[in-house]
Amino acid sequence: MSEIGTIQYRANLPYPKINITQPNEEYARLLMEDYCGAVSELRAVLQYTYGSFVTDGYADLKSALRNIGIVEMLHLELLSVAIIQLGGDPKFHTEDYPSESYNCDDVVYVKTVNGIILANIELESISIANYRKHIAMIDDTQVNGLLERIILDEEVHYDILNKFYVKYTLSPRPTPPQPPESNGTVG
Ligand SMILES: [Fe+2]
Repeated sequence: MSEIGTIQYRANLPYPKINITQPNEEYARLLMEDYCGAVSELRAVLQYTYGSFVTDGYADLKSALRNIGIVEMLHLELLSVAIIQLGGDPKFHTEDYPSESYNCDDVVYVKTVNGIILANIELESISIANYRKHIAMIDDTQVNGLLERIILDEEVHYDILNKFYVKYTLSPRPTPPQPPESNGTVG
């Protein structure tokens, strides 16, 4: 996948070459949660993309959401490589979805700028926490190196979203006219 245009939406470090030599069913299962679980790269791709579709009139936010969505798809691709090398199959379903279909209802389909920004800040926060939890459970430097690198991108996204939050929801109001300075005299 082309990464052109997404440079400012990624950490300034290359992605590690993934060369996992020890298949591990349990690690594959953990990565499947990050791949297509309720809080996952697949959810992020869909949620950012939807946000970009409904933010006409906010060109900078629309472009950022679209580009972050592309970076999330890169993460999806990287995880698919690791899942295959661990012996898994990167289908878009996990144990969370017995119907064997990803549940698109997990996407937050909010249309307000405020709501979109906050939903994605929350998604990034939980994603980062989940990756850290999985790193603590996984004893494989290849897998953990990949997850650490993905976290760096999620932190970039978190910072970008916070800037948009300040811009669009906490913009300072125009300063009201100040009363004339007292000269110390009365009357
Ligand atoms: Fe991601």
